[in-house]
Amino acid sequence: MDTESIDEVLRTTRSVRRRLDFEREVPPEVIEECIEIATQAPTGLNRESWRFLIITDPKKKAAIARLYRAAFEAFANPREGAGSSAQRALVERLHEMPALILVCSLGNPPGSSNAMNVGFYGSVLPAAWSLMLALRARGIGATWTTVLLVHERESAELLGIPEGVTQTVLLPIGYTRDAVLRPANRRGADEVSYWNQWGRRRDEN
Ligand SMILES: Cc1cc2nc3c(=O)[nH]c(=O)nc-3n(C[C@H](O)[C@H](O)[C@H](O)COP(=O)(O)O)c2cc1C
Repeated sequence: MDTESIDEVLRTTRSVRRRLDFEREVPPEVIEECIEIATQAPTGLNRESWRFLIITDPKKKAAIARLYRAAFEAFANPREGAGSSAQRALVERLHEMPALILVCSLGNPPGSSNAMNVGFYGSVLPAAWSLMLALRARGIGATWTTVLLVHERESAELLGIPEGVTQTVLLPIGYTRDAVLRPANRRGADEVSYWNQWGRRRDEN
């Protein structure tokens, strides 16, 4: 296994909103190939409840972009940094993205028990993340977005998504252009890990 390349993909899969080639189509076969890889992710009870809705029709992309903008404007709180310039740039150009991938799950979130909720979302979101990684490995950038869910009902109507199907993340995708993707500045493993007891660092054992 080429650990170095795999680690590179894992470390540098960033949100790419601006440095994209908006003119270049992402071939459908490439999208399908990435979905084949993504569906190797774990799936509760082996149910494979994930579904991927790929939107390339310009009219539908424009309609989704309008919903996304309305949701973003209702949701974004600049004081909390929710309206960063990169996030706004995505709002401006969502309709120009070569493709939008809406990751859905059959069923509805159970809502009451943590175990059931974790099972529900945990059966689809790992595949969505694998999809982002597989795209990244092919030079295709994406962003993990959820703001559209504010208008989930309207997007379901637009896309013909039936009752009993839950939308999760929307990945706007395109080939990267001049994007230098580096590891993010995250807390170290020692800061976010405890050993044997909550709050206890490894060297305190
Ligand atoms: C649950 C979740 C929801 C997110 N929703 C949005 C979104 O609606 N729009 C957006 O532009 N970015 C969204 N992001 C992307 C984050 O802003 C981004 O991951 C974060 O700023 C870190 O940057 P990086 O992905 O480049 O490491 C979301 C990320 C997560 C994990």
